[in-house]
Amino acid sequence: MKKNEISKSIADKFKNIYDARPLVIRSPGRVNIIGEHTDYNEGYVLPAAIDKAIYIAISKRDDELIRLFSAEFNDVFEGKLSTVEKSEKYWANYILGILNQLQIRGHELQGFNIVMGGDVPIGAGLSSSAAIECATAFALNELFHLNIDKLNLVKMAQLAEHSFAGVKVGIMDMFASMFSKKDSVIKLDCRSLDFEYVPLKMEGIKILLLNTNVKHSLASSEYNTRRQQCEKGVEYVKSHFSEVESLRDVTIEMLDQFVAPKDEIIYRRCKYVVEENIRLLAGCDDLKKGDIAALGRKMFQTHNGLSKQYEVSCKELDFLVDHVKNNPAVLGARMMGGGFGGCTINLVKEEAINNIIKEVSESYKSAILFDISFFFMYFY
Ligand code: GLA
Repeated sequence: MKKNEISKSIADKFKNIYDARPLVIRSPGRVNIIGEHTDYNEGYVLPAAIDKAIYIAISKRDDELIRLFSAEFNDVFEGKLSTVEKSEKYWANYILGILNQLQIRGHELQGFNIVMGGDVPIGAGLSSSAAIECATAFALNELFHLNIDKLNLVKMAQLAEHSFAGVKVGIMDMFASMFSKKDSVIKLDCRSLDFEYVPLKMEGIKILLLNTNVKHSLASSEYNTRRQQCEKGVEYVKSHFSEVESLRDVTIEMLDQFVAPKDEIIYRRCKYVVEENIRLLAGCDDLKKGDIAALGRKMFQTHNGLSKQYEVSCKELDFLVDHVKNNPAVLGARMMGGGFGGCTINLVKEEAINNIIKEVSESYKSAILFDISFFFMYFY
């Protein structure tokens, strides 16, 4: 379905349920070209918003009730403004988390009705959760004239995910959803939050997303563990260099000297992050020079690091990357997002796409006993 059709169907659903005309807000999912697990280490990322989005239809109520309807799950949540807390309905938590952030900041709201829907596949690593949070934050900001700027909405969305979804995510997904621009990726410095739009021009090459259609349950707990392991690494280095605040300030030499002798696992985790930041900066230069082959090679290296050093891949993701690795029509491929399932992102020569999809689908099915699905990345 096209954007305006989805928007209309969500608005129609809203009118059927609540008999009112809603404000409809659309917030996109994202891809990330390179720079994975770097955001919460104050490094760099290179995301872009895609043409798949979450839609929030919303209107005010005269009481203090909150009524939420998820079109995806065909499920209802009802609550009160005076008792906003985590719910067992996990889809509602992304909305409630935003409400909680607004209340912490002292914003006075009235009750409201929401219908939520969209076409960002859930669990595919395309940040459907960040898209829900950003759409909700933007919608409430508009509806109640709160005058919160976009960067603060992004920060609130990140905190909502920490407190109501329990995952200590970085800022990339929300930032991409809120600040992306057509035909460009965002080179975001996650320390200063300075950013630059880098044009993504790839003649004859398409971005193909292959969805493993699996999401392993350890994703959230392992994510938080990786974050702690990185912090531990920083602590080891900081006891020798007090000015070090995050892995952004750390070099491979420091890791060799102060972390390797203490803990081999922490050393591997931190080394991956330091190397990934270096790869991203070089990858941006490749992009600016139009050297997509060089960028693609770095993506394969990133996958290797995520799989072997950072250990956030899984057999399904590894299978998909291994499968295309020696195909000359695939310039680069890697797992994308937090890991343990979701999509791989592939840079593929246009003329070879149909064959690759056919071939990889068949092999995946016989090896993993699952179907893959695929999408092309189109800009927001
Ligand atoms: C998830 C998180 C992001 C980022 C990526 C890994 O998508 O939400 O903040 O850490 O994983 O790069």
